[in-house]
Order: sequence, then structure tokens, then C-alpha cells
Amino acid sequence: MEQFLQRMMYVCIVISLVNQMSIAVQARDNSKRRTKEKSGGFQKNICDITDRDSKVHCYCENTREPRNATKAECWVFNGGIPRDDLIWQSFATQPALQSLSFNVRVDGALGYVPTKALQYLQRLKSINIKYGNIVDISTYAFANLTNLKEASLSQNQIETLQQYAFAHLPNLTVVNLEENMILEIGRDSFYDVPKLQKLVLSKNNISSISNGAFQHAFNLLELELNKNNIFHLNRHTFDGLANLRRLDLRKNRVYNLTEFTFAELWNLQELLLGKNDLKYISERAFDGLSQLRKLSLDDNKLGSLPSGLFEGVRGLSSLDLRSNELHALTFDNIKPILDNLKPSGSNLLLEENNFVCDCRLKWMHSLRNETKSQNTKDSLEGVTCKMDPPIVSSAYNKIPEETSNANQDNHYNENAVDIFTKTNSTDKKVDEYNALSDTSAKKGVKRNVLKIAPETLPCPVDTKKTTELPHYIIDPVIPIQNEMKTFRYQEMNAANKRPSITSLVLWSFSFVFFFT
Ligand SMILES: *[C@@H]1O[C@H](CO)[C@@H](O)[C@H](O)[C@H]1NC(C)=O
Ligand SMILES: *[C@@H]1O[C@H](CO)[C@@H](O)[C@H](O)[C@H]1NC(C)=O
Ligand SMILES: *[C@@H]1O[C@H](CO)[C@@H](O)[C@H](O)[C@H]1NC(C)=O
Ligand SMILES: *[C@@H]1O[C@H](CO)[C@@H](O)[C@H](O)[C@H]1NC(C)=O
Ligand SMILES: *[C@@H]1O[C@H](CO)[C@@H](O)[C@H](O)[C@H]1NC(C)=O
Ligand SMILES: *[C@@H]1O[C@H](CO)[C@@H](O)[C@H](O)[C@H]1NC(C)=O
Ligand SMILES: *[C@@H]1O[C@H](CO)[C@@H](O)[C@H](O)[C@H]1NC(C)=O
Repeated sequence: MEQFLQRMMYVCIVISLVNQMSIAVQARDNSKRRTKEKSGGFQKNICDITDRDSKVHCYCENTREPRNATKAECWVFNGGIPRDDLIWQSFATQPALQSLSFNVRVDGALGYVPTKALQYLQRLKSINIKYGNIVDISTYAFANLTNLKEASLSQNQIETLQQYAFAHLPNLTVVNLEENMILEIGRDSFYDVPKLQKLVLSKNNISSISNGAFQHAFNLLELELNKNNIFHLNRHTFDGLANLRRLDLRKNRVYNLTEFTFAELWNLQELLLGKNDLKYISERAFDGLSQLRKLSLDDNKLGSLPSGLFEGVRGLSSLDLRSNELHALTFDNIKPILDNLKPSGSNLLLEENNFVCDCRLKWMHSLRNETKSQNTKDSLEGVTCKMDPPIVSSAYNKIPEETSNANQDNHYNENAVDIFTKTNSTDKKVDEYNALSDTSAKKGVKRNVLKIAPETLPCPVDTKKTTELPHYIIDPVIPIQNEMKTFRYQEMNAANKRPSITSLVLWSFSFVFFFT
């Protein structure tokens, strides 16, 4: 009995001991985990992380040896890493890194440029962060790295570039910020970056660029600003960019190009302004662009070009004016660059405009014959014009009936005037008008300019000399066909107030003269 009791006590003691031990082990484990979380997990070698809980894992290409790797590709799996987390200090274990990239695998996992890691990497040449949620690039984010050549931060969510975001980076050559949400480019975001050659800001939401924003990047060769929200440019926007070769402003909202906007860009060779809302261009907008070879103005709303527009860009050999609303492109317009459009590498693209068939387009025939450029020939062959633009002018629709009647002997288009007095609906009028025109002189119908014999293009006496589009109200003495309606309407209003047979007769007479 005594023996049995002794044995039982022994068993109990053993059980409680084992229990105690396991509790102690657990506690030690817990405290170990706690300290690891607190430290953020300093890693002995960033290229050789065995801790499965680490928020960052890197794969190093050539070697994993401490202090010897040159290229690291890192994945960020967990969010909420503080800016001064010890994981960033761990990058000190590989100071020879030249190329470093971060792929962010979890939404919101990296919201800043890890400056605390970069500062140890004095040999770093390229940094690439993709799919992060970086909202702003802070001052000196790249730790003044003297060897950094390329910084790519595309597809993050950057809205703001702080002052000195890219600063004191003497070897920085390429910066790619494509597909972010940058709203504006301030004055000193790019500062002391004397070797910066290419800056990509495409696909952002930039609406404002401070004057001189790029002046410290004076060696820039290429500036990509396509797909933004830019609507205003002035003569100081591009201050200092005397070396720039290519400026891409496609797909913005620029509507008014004022004089000397590009005056400082005297090495610019390529200027892309397609797909904007351009309606107004100052005659001196391109002044200073003596090296410009290629200019694209396609997909805008240009109705006419100032006659001296190309005087300042006499080297231009590639010009895209497709899909605008040009009524005319005169010999005067094109003369300064006409010879450049003859070699085989040149380009003049003009389809999809609202040209009026008249003698101001005659030069297209000669250029088609003389140019060696197949592109230009093909484009010229596709250029259409209207013999007589369809009557949709609101001014015309407002003409009171009796004055239309009074004007019936105006030779301008007797048939059209008849229709106007007989029918009501504008659409119907235009339709019938077009149908009639079809049977007569194909007026109002699009025709290929080059299929009309040049000598048959109507050429009002006065427009033979000055081939510019006449100004509507200021100079109504030389109306071309579509302006005539507006003009006649004004005249009719005047005549209504003080009807005068003489003036009407004079008018009709002048129109007859004008068209014969
Ligand atoms: C590091 O690289 C150098 C040459 O690149 C080599 O001589 C050295 O042995 C390497 N060190 C280690 C620890 O691998
Ligand atoms: C970078 O240089 C500037 C100016 O010399 C200095 O004020 C700043 O502290 C430096 N930043 C870093 C991260 O080294
Ligand atoms: C730029 O980089 C080259 C080679 O990487 C280096 O020799 C030079 O010192 C760097 N320039 C500056 C100003 O640090
Ligand atoms: C772009 O910026 C404008 C303000 O300038 C803002 O109203 C708009 O929502 C932004 N667009 C996007 C897609 O963020
Ligand atoms: C275009 O900009 C110039 C200069 O800011 C201004 O004088 C002109 O009125 C503007 N034109 C239009 C049509 O907005
Ligand atoms: C262009 O060439 C065609 C055929 O060679 C010729 O008939 C036509 O007169 C020429 N037109 C002009 C404007 O030189
Ligand atoms: C003109 O329109 C009015 C109503 O809009 C209609 O009553 C009339 O019959 C129309 N006249 C002609 C000639 O179509």
C-alpha cells in the first residue's frame, strides 16, 4: 500500500514537471516572437532570408554571399511596414547592389520610396518600384545617391512630387513616372539633376506645370507628357530646356497656343501636339524652333492656320494636320516648307479636313507630281473638298423669307434659294439642296481634290493674290462661298432697316462678277 502511494506521488510529480517545462518553453517562444515583431526583423543577409514571416523577400541573381550581390529583386508581401522598419536597415548587408527592384504583391503594401534602404546602397544604379501605392515622393527620397542612373516608379499612385523629390542625383539619366496620378509639376521637384535626359510623365493627371519647372533638368533630351490634362502652356513652361529633342504633348487639352511657347527649345526636333483641343495658334507659336523636323497637329479643331505659321520652322519635313476643321491650306501657309516636302522621307498628311474646293488648293496638284514621298502622295490623294459647303449656318437659317425672295436673282445658287422659300425643315432643305447639287455641279458633295482638274477649281479674282482665309466681319469684301451666306445675312439686315434697291442691284451684280 505504502509502495503504491509512493509510486502515485512519483507519477504526479513527473506529470507536473513536464507540464511546467512545456509552459516555460511556450512562454519563451512567445517572448521571442514578440521581440522579433518589435524589431521589424533585422535580417543578416537581405539576399538570404530564411524567416518565413519576413514582410520582404529578395532574390539575388549572381550570388547570395553577404556584401557581394549586385542585383536584387524583392517582393513585398505584407503592408504597413514603417518607414524606419529594421527590414530596410537589412539592406546594409548588400552594399554592392547596383540594381534593385520591388514588386508589390499586396494592395497597399508599399506606400513610400524606401529611402532608409537606399541610403546604404551607394553603388546603386537602378531602382524600380512597381504596383506600389506610393502617393507622394518626398524630399530627397533617393538619398542623394551619386551613382543612380535610372529610377522607375511607373504604375504606382503618385499624386505629388515634393520639392526636391529628385534632387542631388548627379548621374540620374532616366526617370519613369508613367501611369500615376500626378496632378502638377512644381518648381523644384527636379533639382540638381544635370544628367537627366529622359523624363516620362505620360498617363498622369497633370493639369498644371509651374513656370521653369524643368529648368534644373537642362540636359533633358526627351520629355513625355502625353495623356495628361494640360490645357495651358506659356513661354516659361519649358524654360531652360535648350537641349530638348522630343516633346510629346499628345492627348492633352491644350486649346490655345500662344506666341513663343517653345521659344527656348531651339534644339527641338519633334513636337507632338496631336489629339488636343487646339483651336487657336498664334502666328508666332513655333518661333525659335529652328531645328524642328516633325510636327504633329492631328486630331485638333483647327479651322485655319495663320499664314506665317511655318516661317519660324523652315526645317520642317514632317507635318500631320489630319482630322482638323481646316477650310483651306494655302500656298502661303505651306510655302516656307514646301521644298522639304519633296524628298522621299518627308511627310505631309492632310486627310479628314473641311477643305473648300477652290484654287487655294491648287498647289496640292504640283506637290503630288513633285514629291518623292509615297506617304505624302497617298495622303494627298485622299484629301477631299466640298464644292460648296452644305447650308447649315445658323445665320442662314435666320434669314427672313421676304429678304430671301428679294435676293432670288442672286446667282449664288438659285435652286437653293427656291428651296428655302418653299420648305420648312432645315434638314429637308439641306437634303434637297444636296440632291439638287448632285445633279448640277456636285456642289456640297465631297470630292477628291486631285480628281478635280486644277484649272477648273473656282478662283475668285481677289483670292488669287491673297490666298489666306478672309476674316469674317472685318474684311467682308472678298467672301468665299461659305462666308458669303453670313455676309449676305448681315447685308440683308442692313438692307431691311433701310431698304435700298440700288444696294441690292449692286450686290447681285458684284456676285455675278465674282463668279464669272
Ligand atoms: C565577392 O566577389 C569578388 C569578385 O567579384 C570575389 O573575388 C570574392 O571572392 C567574392 N566574395 C565572396 C565572399 O564570395
Ligand atoms: C541630400 O543633400 C541635401 C543637400 O546637400 C541635404 O540637405 C540632405 O540632407 C541630403 N539627404 C540625404 C538623404 O542624404
Ligand atoms: C557617375 O557614375 C560614374 C560611373 O558609375 C562614376 O564614375 C561617377 O563618379 C559618377 N558621377 C558622380 C558625379 O558621382
Ligand atoms: C484629375 O484631376 C482633377 C483635378 O485637376 C480631378 O478632378 C480628377 O478627379 C482627377 N482624375 C483622376 C482620374 O484622378
Ligand atoms: C490665347 O492666349 C492669349 C495669351 O494668353 C490670349 O491673349 C488670347 O486671348 C487667347 N485666345 C483665346 C481664343 O482664348
Ligand atoms: C501632274 O502630272 C500629270 C501627269 O504627269 C500632268 O498631267 C499634270 O499636268 C501635272 N500637274 C501639275 C500641276 O504639274
Ligand atoms: C411648315 O411647318 C408648319 C409647322 O411647323 C406646318 O404646319 C406647315 O405645313 C409646314 N409647311 C410646309 C410647306 O411644309
